[in-house]
Amino acid sequence: MSEFKMYDTPFHESSLANTSVLVTGGAGFIGSNIVTYLLAHGIKKVRVLDNLSNGFLRNLEAFKNNPAFEFMEGDMTVLADCNKACEGIDLVTHQAALGSVPRSIKNPLATSDANTTGFLNMLLAARDAGVKRFVYASSSSVYGDSTASPKKEENLGIPLSPYAVSKLTNELYARVFSMHYGIETIGLRYFNVFGPNQDPNGPYAAAIPLFMNALLFGKDAVIYGDGEQTRDFTFVENAVQANIRALFTTNNEALNRVYNVAVSEAVSVNDLYQTIATIAGNNKQPEYVAERKGDIKNSLADISLAIKYLGYAPRYKHKDGLSITVNWFKNNYNNA
Ligand SMILES: NC(=O)c1ccc[n+]([C@@H]2O[C@H](COP(=O)([O-])OP(=O)(O)OC[C@H]3O[C@@H](n4cnc5c(N)ncnc54)[C@H](O)[C@@H]3O)[C@@H](O)[C@H]2O)c1
Repeated sequence: MSEFKMYDTPFHESSLANTSVLVTGGAGFIGSNIVTYLLAHGIKKVRVLDNLSNGFLRNLEAFKNNPAFEFMEGDMTVLADCNKACEGIDLVTHQAALGSVPRSIKNPLATSDANTTGFLNMLLAARDAGVKRFVYASSSSVYGDSTASPKKEENLGIPLSPYAVSKLTNELYARVFSMHYGIETIGLRYFNVFGPNQDPNGPYAAAIPLFMNALLFGKDAVIYGDGEQTRDFTFVENAVQANIRALFTTNNEALNRVYNVAVSEAVSVNDLYQTIATIAGNNKQPEYVAERKGDIKNSLADISLAIKYLGYAPRYKHKDGLSITVNWFKNNYNNA
């Protein structure tokens, strides 16, 4: 990622030189971008806990000789690994999970083990190690069948997948832990995050990296349904900003809440595809196939709560993020 200056802008106010942060899932897409920010801004220590099931050491390659960086291969479904990972840590940002709604429908037990048991293990380990604050990745999937638009944090519907159940459970556990054990928690409901380090391979790859593969490297492009469904596509720098603001905020009113993390821009999948095609200079057309189970029609965030309490101010609209992402895929994948 060295060719991008994405993380020059600071989103924290005080020095990070005395703070140790654990990033679970730090070898994955969003986690490795958080690690990049923290190391670029002089953190005392950043430790990654990751079992490399869906993450890659190549995402952390640039930091392997940095004395402030430590990689711990371990599994959050094993409490002892979580305890070890939390030793000497001030703040946790918990990104590790098995992503993907279709994966969770195919194998709900695996999703529950990683996302629910793993989450509870991490909360217990953080509590027992005296960690001050636990920031964690939730998801827009918790809105389930709610038809409210844009979605405000209180507009919860019925979850539509085991993945959504696991993320909603995380929010409930976090609330209970802050209530009973005093650990500060902040949940971040990401809306369709994309950008550098996102994996374009495997059966559960997300739409944007798949479109990159199609339009840059000649793979097939598939759109589910008519492509008129809309999403609030969020460039990863915005998600990193939300994490940094949540980790370091001094606003007590911001604590023990959950926030939408998005841009508040509704973009159809068809428009998204055409924008990537234009940036990539390729007019290949996608193939349309049947809608997927559990997919919702429209997903747009109201981000006013994060603006109000965290001072969150997304810097990238989806088009700016897509230009950076197309360049990144061109430079980092060779017919991935
Ligand atoms: N990318 C998105 O659009 C999006 C949207 C909503 C929520 N989220 C959530 O954000 C977080 C990060 O997502 P991402 O897109 O970076 O996914 P990712 O798959 O790239 O990263 C997740 C990381 O967690 C690790 N992991 C999985 N199971 C583990 C276990 N048992 N022990 C230790 N490590 C384990 C994986 O190896 C991987 O490196 C996840 O919690 C995900 O559910 C992502």
